[in-house]
Amino acid sequence: MIAAVLKETNIGENRVVATPQTVKEMIKSGLTVRVQSGAGDASYFSDQAYAEAGAEIAADATATVHGANIILKVDVPSLEEVEFIPDGSAFVSLFQTTRETEKVNALTNKKVTGFSMHLIPRTTLAQSMDALSSQANIAGYKSVLIGAAHLPVYMPLLMTAAGTIPPAKVLILGAGVAGLQAIATAKRLGAQVEAFDVRPEVKEQVESLGAKFVEVASDGDDGVGEGGYAKETSDDYKQRQQALIKQHIAKSDLVITTALIPGRPAPLLIPKDMVEGMKPGSAIIDLAAENGGNCELTQSGEVIEHNGVKIDGTLNLPATMQVHASQLYAKNVSTFVTYMMKDGELNFDLDDEIISGAMFTHQGEITHEPTREAVNA
Ligand code: NAI
Repeated sequence: MIAAVLKETNIGENRVVATPQTVKEMIKSGLTVRVQSGAGDASYFSDQAYAEAGAEIAADATATVHGANIILKVDVPSLEEVEFIPDGSAFVSLFQTTRETEKVNALTNKKVTGFSMHLIPRTTLAQSMDALSSQANIAGYKSVLIGAAHLPVYMPLLMTAAGTIPPAKVLILGAGVAGLQAIATAKRLGAQVEAFDVRPEVKEQVESLGAKFVEVASDGDDGVGEGGYAKETSDDYKQRQQALIKQHIAKSDLVITTALIPGRPAPLLIPKDMVEGMKPGSAIIDLAAENGGNCELTQSGEVIEHNGVKIDGTLNLPATMQVHASQLYAKNVSTFVTYMMKDGELNFDLDDEIISGAMFTHQGEITHEPTREAVNA
């Protein structure tokens, strides 16, 4: 059984799907691991380090995947990459299956078994395979550092001979994995932090990190979806939420937005008029930019300024911390791949909830219902 580690091709994607350490782990499970030359360069893992870990080094992508049983990547493959993946092999990456429908079809036509690390169930058993969490943690941390660098003010309270500087006010919208890490990071920098989320159970987690929870009064289960995720809120709730956020945002120096609803565009939390009520010199970091953004003015992949407010829609923050992002993502992937190894063979046990949960194509069929719906739409 051969596992192939491909070099990433997207501009700015510095991560790699395996590290020398995870190569060793995959070899121990019975796999032969082949790494494309230069795959780890942008994450500072050399071909030599992979070879010392026991990997074969292949000169190019075609040679890497030749005869491979499972192909590993960080990003979604390009259509060209899908072309050279061997028919009937398996493919693992961070695949947005409901968006990348053309590529889902291409994999189905080649009878490739597709797995997306986005679809790994959020269960206790699968925690070490949870790439959404490992990467969102990094995005949350980095968003605060970037935000602090945009600000024309200090983050902490300072008492100096020349006067007292009050702490910066940071507002976090969406307190999931990224939001909680953003709270912790902003607190460590000395800011005064407030956070808001539609899921009321998050209040305790926010407060345990030393931040204030901004609460919208609600007598129903507005915003609480299945599996610990959020759902779309009622119009009445949205109006009350907007009024409350408006008050808090006007006083904030830095706003980090992370709000997402699975399978839906990101909720709009900051319309243009709210940005216009913000202090000049303040900044918004929109971590939901890839899913349409939480701020009306966000431009995906761009930093813009509106009435003196910086709005940062930079994409793929984990790729800017590639050493740790790769280390954690590679561990998520190798845990998943070695979990599927039984007696030296890859075993796609369809009764296993982690394996069937992460799978979206198999033997020429789309096996994941929301993906099938998106492809048919
Ligand atoms: P996410 O990335 O889907 O969403 C980010 C946050 O945005 C969530 O907290 C969500 O409630 C919030 N949000 C959605 N709409 C909003 C709105 N209109 N206004 C304000 N906030 C809004 O979520 P993420 O970070 O992937 O995690 C969500 C939850 O999943 C966690 O808090 C946890 O309960 C669960 N989880 C469970 C794990 C496990 O059991 N292994 C691992 C990781 C997460």
